[in-house]
Amino acid sequence: MSDLTGKVALVTGGSRGIGAAIARKLAADGADVAITYQSAEVQAKSVVAEVESLGRRAVAIRADSGAAEDVVHAVNQAAADLGRLDILVNNAGIFPAKPFEEFTLAEVDRALNIHARAAFVGAQAAVAHMNDGGRIISIGTNLSERAAFGGLSLYNLSKSALNGFTKALARELGPRAITVNLLQPGSTVTDMNPLDGDHYDHQVGLTALGHFARPEDMAAMVGFLAGDTGRSVTGAILTIDGGTNA
Ligand SMILES: NC(=O)c1ccc[n+]([C@@H]2O[C@H](COP(=O)([O-])OP(=O)(O)OC[C@H]3O[C@@H](n4cnc5c(N)ncnc54)[C@H](OP(=O)(O)O)[C@@H]3O)[C@@H](O)[C@H]2O)c1
Repeated sequence: MSDLTGKVALVTGGSRGIGAAIARKLAADGADVAITYQSAEVQAKSVVAEVESLGRRAVAIRADSGAAEDVVHAVNQAAADLGRLDILVNNAGIFPAKPFEEFTLAEVDRALNIHARAAFVGAQAAVAHMNDGGRIISIGTNLSERAAFGGLSLYNLSKSALNGFTKALARELGPRAITVNLLQPGSTVTDMNPLDGDHYDHQVGLTALGHFARPEDMAAMVGFLAGDTGRSVTGAILTIDGGTNA
């Protein structure tokens, strides 16, 4: 287990699913945690209560990752409310999936803004608060490397930008010992990808292990990267997908 005592983390999209599990894990490891959410205020408050029950401070900030000014404001508010910022997790995401020809320009812009631009401006704002040794962790997708079914053109366009961004920023921030990594989940049980979803059978059939991952499986890797355990890992693209891309 990493010891994050005295550290402060911001997890975007921390109200549900993988982001909520990451918030709980970082708090369990000792960090105070800010989360953002778009609309699920009740769930966001519930995650705050869970973090506080672990003896940590927590704050939930409504911020649309599709709006650059919201992202910057959330970073600055997290640092102001909790006194510092050590760890940024770019997790908030959507799953736009349909035939390529049907996407509108507004949908293309929105996905790029939520997945790619938010990670960029969020990191830019966060680095201004970080001491040397900070952590930037983005949540991509295993589908960026192998598009295992149709309808993924926009999701993959917007998520795969994180691969190049992660490597470039890792190189740039290395002299400050700030690590920058990308975690690529595969099929993980959340509201976005429920066990009773239309594509469950197809997705589980693609795994080597025969099951979906749990949000806690992703959170465990984020905890590793966030702690001193991750001090030598940067520019890495780590895939946890039950062997789907094997
Ligand atoms: N589940 C999977 O199988 C899987 C696989 C690969 C990658 N991922 C990636 O993992 C990340 C988390 O996914 P998940 O499965 O946990 O999804 P989820 O259960 O649908 O939760 C999404 C989270 O992101 C937040 N969010 C969505 N749009 C937002 C926006 N515009 N601004 C701010 N917050 C926003 C949601 O906030 P509200 O609660 O307020 O709506 C929620 O907290 C995403 O980036 C996703 O692409 C998931």
